Amino acid sequence: MLDPCTLVIFGSTGNLSRNKLLPALYHLEEVGRLPDDMTIIGHGRRDWDTEYWRGEVEEILKPRSRGGLDPAVFKKFCSRLHYFRGDLADEESYYDLSKFIDEQPDCSSNIIFYMSVRPAEYRTVAHSLKAVGLSDQEKGWRRLVIEKPFGYDLESAEVLDKALRRDFQEDQIYRIDHYLGKGTIQNVLVFRFANLMLEPLWNRNFIDHVQITHSEAKGIEGRGAYYDGAGSLRDMIQSHLLQMMTLVAMEPPADLDADSLRDEKVKVLRSIRPITKNSVNAQAFRAQYSAGVVDGEPVSSYLDEDGVAPDSTTETFTAMKLYVDNWRWRGVPFYLRTGKAMEKANSMISIRFKHPPQQLFRETQIDHIKPNWILMNIQPSECLRLELQVKQPGLEMRAETTRLDAASCSLAQSQIDAYEALLLDVIEGDASLFLRFDEVNLAWQVVDPVLKAWSTEREYIPTYPAGSWGPEGANRLFDREDQYWRNAMDEDMDDLVDAVTAASKEAAAK
Ligand code: BG6
Repeated sequence: MLDPCTLVIFGSTGNLSRNKLLPALYHLEEVGRLPDDMTIIGHGRRDWDTEYWRGEVEEILKPRSRGGLDPAVFKKFCSRLHYFRGDLADEESYYDLSKFIDEQPDCSSNIIFYMSVRPAEYRTVAHSLKAVGLSDQEKGWRRLVIEKPFGYDLESAEVLDKALRRDFQEDQIYRIDHYLGKGTIQNVLVFRFANLMLEPLWNRNFIDHVQITHSEAKGIEGRGAYYDGAGSLRDMIQSHLLQMMTLVAMEPPADLDADSLRDEKVKVLRSIRPITKNSVNAQAFRAQYSAGVVDGEPVSSYLDEDGVAPDSTTETFTAMKLYVDNWRWRGVPFYLRTGKAMEKANSMISIRFKHPPQQLFRETQIDHIKPNWILMNIQPSECLRLELQVKQPGLEMRAETTRLDAASCSLAQSQIDAYEALLLDVIEGDASLFLRFDEVNLAWQVVDPVLKAWSTEREYIPTYPAGSWGPEGANRLFDREDQYWRNAMDEDMDDLVDAVTAASKEAAAK
């Protein structure tokens, strides 16, 4: 039985609330997962009342609900909604909010505060809640949900954390990384720890390298003002990609308790070899998109986006190589790559195994045994694939790559949005998929040396045409010539490997 609760959404009229939170809550209603006694308070500056807000929510949900709005479900959902007009900067208004919650007969005093506001406002909101007693857990539990970015660099993250923890305790703070709510990401844990046959292979003796790629076909979608000050290293690598990496690399936790899981992730982050000033160029590469064509449509260059400085050297593409210096992974490179305005939107974890120790087929027409791969596609489709070598049918001794796909590969798109899973976890008080501050802090430590080096190199940045897989320069991170980026699930592996082999032979011959 879930506790009754009140969810207060600060910034309820903003994009995150419209596009993610409200649709996710509605879908949870649809499948009967919201507690019966749960109310949702939309907090905003606009001069609206509850009736008006309910009408707005209906309009928001119409195009965003899967399969259209169900009148009965919406009626129930609507009855949970209240609107509170408030000013984030005015402490008085938090007294009024507190009174408002007390006065609504249906509002529980177990309260979730969701900060769907600008990061610059996190401290004010948390502090004002504390000032009026709303962080106090005497009458019921109080949880504070915050979205990334958790700071701008190591130092500012620490400052923010100190401030938040003056007002809320660590176990009241839910730091969302929405990637941890995605189905395939959670599947990484099940795949690894529910299949005994994988464990003996999951280490430096068998794995050649790991790649984590997140490519987006879209550009920065009008978020120039934020993005130009952030760049892809902060926006994606420090958070989502490093989180994915910890799940691939972590040791089995003692149990699935939130802290056991997070302790193991922290151990991975702590074992990442620090990038020294001298190794920044060998371990990190950045670039920015220039004009090009994505999906047949012309796309203008990053520098022409609104809110972007005309001489900006902010990166829209980052590739990184990291090493985890522990017994399991020492010497295995983890290649991380992300970019905007690329050829295709795809997120994938690709694990390449080593070559067999003996080239048994050297004298046959199998001149180059291709390695095995495990591919975990996160989006647009969720898929688990194993690539193996088998004999081609026929009289010749030739090998070809065959793919074993998990059945879920046929699903076009995950049916459950990450926010649905995460909101439910907050309601249930399960913090396992939320970041503890030591994770955030260590992730900043990983990227901080690169950020510092790049901030001093502001004259030039390589470019790549929008609609490409990023610049050639990213290949220089590879430890060996036979390593190459896996871009998407459906690319033809055999052709790709043949091309790479031919290129490396050509290079060797020169
Ligand atoms: C966000 C970043 O955290 O993640 C965005 O700020 C990025 O720049 C987004 O586009 C990607 O998330 P998803 O779920 O669309 O892959």
